[in-house]
Amino acid sequence: MSVPLSDVAYQQCISPDCGEQYGVADVRINCGQCGGLLDVRYDWGRARPPEKLGDFQKLWSERHEPARFSGVWRFHDLLPFAPLEQVVTVGEGQTILQQADAVASYVGVRSGGLFLQYEGMNPSGSFKDNGMTAAFTHARMIGAKRAACASTGNTSASLAMYCAVTRHMKAVIFIGSGKISYGKLSQALDYGALTVQIAGDFDDAMVRVREVARDLGIYLVNSVNPFRLEGQKTIMLRVLEALRWEVPDWIVVPGGNLGNSSAFGKAFAELLELGLIDRAPRLAVINATGANTLYELYENRSLRWNGGRIDQQVSDAYLAELDAAQRKASTLASAIEINRPVNLTKCLRALDTCDGVVREVTDQEIIDAKAQVGAGGIGCEPASGASVAGARKLVQEGVIDPDARVVCILTGHQLKDPDATVAYHTTDQDRFDRVLGTRGVKRASFANRAVAVPNDLPEIIKAIQLYS
Ligand code: F0G
Repeated sequence: MSVPLSDVAYQQCISPDCGEQYGVADVRINCGQCGGLLDVRYDWGRARPPEKLGDFQKLWSERHEPARFSGVWRFHDLLPFAPLEQVVTVGEGQTILQQADAVASYVGVRSGGLFLQYEGMNPSGSFKDNGMTAAFTHARMIGAKRAACASTGNTSASLAMYCAVTRHMKAVIFIGSGKISYGKLSQALDYGALTVQIAGDFDDAMVRVREVARDLGIYLVNSVNPFRLEGQKTIMLRVLEALRWEVPDWIVVPGGNLGNSSAFGKAFAELLELGLIDRAPRLAVINATGANTLYELYENRSLRWNGGRIDQQVSDAYLAELDAAQRKASTLASAIEINRPVNLTKCLRALDTCDGVVREVTDQEIIDAKAQVGAGGIGCEPASGASVAGARKLVQEGVIDPDARVVCILTGHQLKDPDATVAYHTTDQDRFDRVLGTRGVKRASFANRAVAVPNDLPEIIKAIQLYS
């Protein structure tokens, strides 16, 4: 007889000193005892995970079922908090891991050693759909009618899309003023979400959305929601699948609110616990220099997971310094323009599991790396370029071996932020200065400039012959 699925999953405070448990039907974004973040956990003895990762391949033949077609729910056995028949899916997770040799040479690893995981190929154009399908499934399980998030754009696009496609809930999204790229804003508006633009940035919006969710009983889908991170674990499962279940040497990911890095760490911790892999890859989390809280705390102030006994004073003191200096997050990579990452503690745990490092990269490095990714096809948005820029830096430092197998996560689609791309390639200096120059970007080293020609056939032919 099969075990009812709700019995195999529960929520638990991540602090080992607290460890308070809650049922899966309990809607909360932190521990009622100590305020810590929560994990979704499973009684693996009863949940019956696969004996080996290769077992997942059998499910390919069931792709006519939406829940098996989904690149998230295909791995349901490793996130069994809801019955498979109840999952909400719009076909997320059909993403590709591509060997990218031209980018490898830019990064400085051997040909064949660099892989790009294109999460921009999700239905709303970013990795967020991996998490949203899981949060949505939970929201539906508990009968939520409205869902909210604060967002730098992609979470809101994803939430708005799931609400519009499924009609299960109404979306309420909070965005900071002028802090969201038009590609993302256009999605939220088009999909019909109630869009609340507050006078402030993402960090301000995050504080408000928590208050509003609490006061109005609206389901919160930011990555403090532990169910969301369950879905994001599957990004790593797909990476392993594409590498025929071999663990790469490095996973490199941009860090904003630190949901992805936290989810990746949890995925590897569970796979190790279950004996499905024998080692975790190393994890590199890349901040933008203008939004570098994790870098500052981890690399400069040595803040560590420390078995769950994190020195809270170190992070509190740093955030107080930011406030005193009135320093707001500022980067061209608007998706990661965040100074107060809500998943800081979970990310420290992930860095511990995966022997991690953190680096910061400038907007110049980000936009040049993004151009390199674009030149290789498919492309990405600026925040995703941070992973490639970070990998390059780590190779230059000798931390990543040139012979290593490196996977960079491209978190968002190229079309999410066309302003940044056009400004990089433009011949219009004013546009360059306005969009990029104000961010400290001085050159467009890999610009592909449009060629201006008179409307005259011989001149057009001459130009094509000259430049092609
Ligand atoms: N890359 C992109 C394209 C993102 O949209 C985000 C986060 C990140 C990286 C950072 O990921 O938060 O898991 O560390 N975007 C959020 C949003 C904050 O609201 O869309 P993280």
